[in-house]
Amino acid sequence: MAFKNIKTSINNGIMIITISRQERLNALNFETLGELNKVIKELYNDISIMGAIITGEGEKAFVAGADITEISKLNEMNGRKSAETGQEIFQMIENCPKLIIAAVNGYALGGGCELAMACHLRVMSENAKFGQPEINLGIIPGYGGTQRLPWLVGKGKALELMLTADMVNANDAKEMGWANYITSQENLIPKCLEILNKIITKPAISVGLIIDCVNTAFHKQEDGFQTEANAFAACISTGDFKEGTAAFIEKRVPVFKGK
Ligand code: COA
Repeated sequence: MAFKNIKTSINNGIMIITISRQERLNALNFETLGELNKVIKELYNDISIMGAIITGEGEKAFVAGADITEISKLNEMNGRKSAETGQEIFQMIENCPKLIIAAVNGYALGGGCELAMACHLRVMSENAKFGQPEINLGIIPGYGGTQRLPWLVGKGKALELMLTADMVNANDAKEMGWANYITSQENLIPKCLEILNKIITKPAISVGLIIDCVNTAFHKQEDGFQTEANAFAACISTGDFKEGTAAFIEKRVPVFKGK
């Protein structure tokens, strides 16, 4: 399948999925999310594919978030729909019985951090950083970040990161359990392939069941995702959200009023 914003290749049973909007730091616009949905369905359905890597084009960004120019135009109703759609696609990634590794080659911010966290493992290049800076835009993470970040790094650290919008470098990311490995930019895909090649020789049914059992342990609070989508939609109707996104687009510092 050919796409506008995503490149795919399949070699020796491993699919490499590259988000390719380099001029926007691979930000996820709705079109790209739609394409990702189709690619992940192909990964599920094609029995010749045993595992996948998701990465971003270039050496600067994995994915720098949802596309702010698009989300700045949302209203409360389609804001909720947009969060639910992103959550569904990322849940499909998380629940895939085939191993999916995020090769985090640069900034993984907002929706990019959430995409990496929906993958089963994360390998980071030395220059990569992750963060959930949505608060600076007057919104909150809406593609599962409020749920998956605490699962990975613990409640206290997750709250701190979402409330401060601070970015975390690769060394700290590994130390706090967000990243499985750090490696050089050149070795990023080879390292992911090394891990995948080890795991795809294991019995596929066991691989899928281990992923499913571990996911089940974390999905006791399933309605946390609904709470997140509702809260994301509520932010969209605030003046602070309009101010936050406008300030990003106009390249100025936002002035928030708390309403
Ligand atoms: N949505 C839309 N466009 C984005 C984007 C996003 N999430 N992230 C970056 N871009 C665009 C920039 O507007 C810029 O476009 P321009 O060349 O037309 O001005 C281009 O990508 C390059 O980004 P720039 O900001 O100039 O790069 P930088 O090196 O100065 O900063 C970041 C890099 C990642 C720190 C910065 O781009 C950033 O903060 N991005 C937004 C992160 C974010 O808030 N994500 C959560 C969204 S919900």
